[in-house]
Amino acid sequence: MGKISVKTLLQTTPNNQEVHVNGWVKTFRSNRFIALNDGSTLHNIQCVIDFEQFDEALIKSISTGAAIKVTGILVESQGRGQSVEIQVSAIYIHGEADAETYPIQPKKHSFEFLREKAHLRVRTNTFSAVMRLRSALSYAVHTYFQNNGFYYFHAPIITGSDAEGAGEMFRVTTLDAKQPPLTADGQVDYKEDFFGKETNLTVSGQLEAESYAMGLGKVYTFGPTFRAENSNTSRHLAEFWMIEPEMAFYDLNDNMDLAEDFIQWVLKYVLEHCGDDLAFLEKRLLDEEKGKPIAQRSEMALIEKLRFVVDNKFKRVSYTEAIEILKNSKPNKKKKFNYIIEEWGADLQSEHERFLVEKHFKCPVILFDYPADIKAFYMRLNEDGKTVRAMDVLFPGIGEIVGGSQREERLDVLKQKMAELQIDEEELWWYLDLRKFGTAVHSGFGLGFERLVQFTTGMGNIRDVIPFPRTPQNASF
Ligand code: 4AD
Ligand code: MG
Repeated sequence: MGKISVKTLLQTTPNNQEVHVNGWVKTFRSNRFIALNDGSTLHNIQCVIDFEQFDEALIKSISTGAAIKVTGILVESQGRGQSVEIQVSAIYIHGEADAETYPIQPKKHSFEFLREKAHLRVRTNTFSAVMRLRSALSYAVHTYFQNNGFYYFHAPIITGSDAEGAGEMFRVTTLDAKQPPLTADGQVDYKEDFFGKETNLTVSGQLEAESYAMGLGKVYTFGPTFRAENSNTSRHLAEFWMIEPEMAFYDLNDNMDLAEDFIQWVLKYVLEHCGDDLAFLEKRLLDEEKGKPIAQRSEMALIEKLRFVVDNKFKRVSYTEAIEILKNSKPNKKKKFNYIIEEWGADLQSEHERFLVEKHFKCPVILFDYPADIKAFYMRLNEDGKTVRAMDVLFPGIGEIVGGSQREERLDVLKQKMAELQIDEEELWWYLDLRKFGTAVHSGFGLGFERLVQFTTGMGNIRDVIPFPRTPQNASF
């Protein structure tokens, strides 16, 4: 047998064949047992050595974190907890890891500590499980859309438009910071930006995806997006990955159906394919919760929670109904929820969303038909003239996981809205063209991929579900 992963080895029936396996040493006990892991699975392969057969210097260089290659015979394991092990005949040291300075020791490290070691933390069980799940979820996302007639659309990263109109963009510039070109009155001349145009990193690929949906029918993006918002919460990143399907001839109901079906399908996929990693993360959470008062522990364990979302319909509620529910609910400071809401028209705060999802409905909720004034310019105005066909999907423990809408397809209405918000028609001339030439009802949504990974893995902080988190505090990698 040639090179083989730990995952495959652990599933192999031993028949005295010689195997070679590469990996990193997790632990080395009693100069005899090496637990070796190569990232292919949560589980280690036990490699048993007779240290007297080996050079003393070589034995010394086997320590946690070292990269080694092991050659030996795969046999049935004598020990408990594993089916096979390797009786080692040769060891090659790819690279040592100095025990004094290697930061990832076989003990519990805090996530804060590991964030400082973002380049090494994937060697821990928790992070390797999270990142394998992240990869499986990505695969599931593509599989779902590809199987359902969507085309993968690559939205530009550098763009001239502020899709959300929230002014949270990172400027892209070719200006010389030390000697920027100046206007006649001495101000930096941003007209010189990016070869003569003001540009920024995309906050959403939606507007461009709309143009492709109006030609390819159904498209989706899946790529990095950027928000220059100074939010330091466990749900916000400055760089995050977004999945944005956009569909011609879909109205808001079709859009909500798609969002629900899509989320349920990808969660089902990981339940079916990532049982080991999910079970590990579930146990981690249960251990963590043991230290908390019973009232603060979650009612469902991780896998049960995922199954619940897969098996139950999401509750659909209009914004107006939600406001009534919130108005009729008594605030309760002791229970952390203080959900007084004064007026129709107010934007919902995360505590309102959490109340609706976690206390009132106790299931994922899709809120729709929001007041036009608190939503973006491109959303389809309803006949009442004051609400828009917007929808947000709210998840327990996460809050908003999806934001989407039916788009305003009527040129005159869109132009009027842009005028009200002082959005320059010249900036979005091409977007208006889509309403001039073959316009049609169309819809789409954006799902924050990290929030989905958070929900799936039960990780409390969004910084721990993306390899190198970008937040206002953390850009050291
Ligand atoms: O609600 P948002 O801002 O919607 C849009 O960008 C639309 N253009 C999407 C569309 O209709 N095509 O963002 C969509 C989702 C949110 O629901 C949230 O899950 C996630 O993106 N999100 C963030 N995730 C992490 N960090 C941030 N700073 C995020 N901002 C939004
Ligand atoms: Mg939103």
